[in-house]
Amino acid sequence: MRRIKVGILGATGSVGQRFVQLLDGHPWFELGALFASERSAGKRYRDVAKWVLPYAMPAEAAETVVQSMNDVDAAENEDISIMFSALPGPIANEVEKRCAQAGYAVSTNVAVHRMEKDVPLVIPEINADHLALIEVQKSLRGWDGFIITNPNCSTIVMTLSLEPLMQFGINEVHVSTMQAVSGAGYAGLPSMAILDNVLPFIEKEEEKMESETLKILGALEGSEVKNAPFTVCASCHRVPVMDGHTEAVWVKFEESVSEEEVKKAFKDFNTDIKTPFAPDKPIILREERDRPQPKLDRDAGNGMSISVGRVRGGRMENEIKYIVQGHNTVRGAAGASILNAEVLVERGYI
Ligand SMILES: NC(=O)c1ccc[n+]([C@@H]2O[C@H](COP(=O)([O-])OP(=O)(O)OC[C@H]3O[C@@H](n4cnc5c(N)ncnc54)[C@H](OP(=O)(O)O)[C@@H]3O)[C@@H](O)[C@H]2O)c1
Repeated sequence: MRRIKVGILGATGSVGQRFVQLLDGHPWFELGALFASERSAGKRYRDVAKWVLPYAMPAEAAETVVQSMNDVDAAENEDISIMFSALPGPIANEVEKRCAQAGYAVSTNVAVHRMEKDVPLVIPEINADHLALIEVQKSLRGWDGFIITNPNCSTIVMTLSLEPLMQFGINEVHVSTMQAVSGAGYAGLPSMAILDNVLPFIEKEEEKMESETLKILGALEGSEVKNAPFTVCASCHRVPVMDGHTEAVWVKFEESVSEEEVKKAFKDFNTDIKTPFAPDKPIILREERDRPQPKLDRDAGNGMSISVGRVRGGRMENEIKYIVQGHNTVRGAAGASILNAEVLVERGYI
């Protein structure tokens, strides 16, 4: 396969660093350019990225001179096909649109375009068919390129676990999250605020879980997605864990469903997505009574598998509860965008 050049918008941040690390040695993608704020532009990546990952900084990225957002559509970048985005929302809105207009395929982590009707919000193991919205978007907006999005980190983890349960008919979902600090970005939380503590508020997180889930699990009808017909009620919390979101989920079904049926649905779940970043098993059922745990399970499937456990009947009628855990900056962010981009390539969108 030909090598495809990619750029990273917001390359110095928490998710941007994950992109740099995960793309190193990728069989299809080759790093073409790194972009960050004016503070970093014109300097070598190794001098401006405050590298926090437990891997060496890839040598090629380390020597790359970071560019500013003004350079995204410069002539020197015209051999780039895909722009991965990990920018703060307000900046992403303008820059991502400019990139799509200039002809790039933009695969973004950022929330700002996720709920727009003509923008695919994709977890490929669930709704790769929603990529058909790309043609709708290009024709409505008159762009040569396009924007596709992956969900918020806590949404990805929960929604992947809900997909195999859709066959039973879901009425209501309640979720309580325990989210890692890396989800707040590199400069996100002062250590004095989070160490020895739990923060019971994450801006706009509950709203994202409650809306994005229904779009992803919804059905594409013509040029629109019809939301899945149930409600999600989320309570989101930050805990002093470095990486890996853990979520307690209560699912109320239309009819009685046994613990064994739910476990079997998790165990049997598989898809036809087989690109380099697709994990062999997207969902791993942990049978031990004290799993999943972020320290033990976040790196499963190179960080791209989620783990479920503690499946048991709830107190309410037709209810099952369980715990799900996934890596927030890999499966929940950079890895998710890379997987989406691979599927774009495989299906001929790039
Ligand atoms: N962290 C997660 O787990 C996670 C998961 C899913 C989605 N997301 C989303 O991904 C995005 C990035 O999150 P993050 O946690 O990686 O944030 P972060 O650590 O704060 O990184 C932000 C990046 O954007 C750049 N930037 C900041 N202000 C800019 C400006 N005015 N113009 C141009 N570039 C600017 C920064 O460059 P400098 O270094 O030069 O300042 C840095 O590269 C956010 O929209 C977030 O909601 C994050």
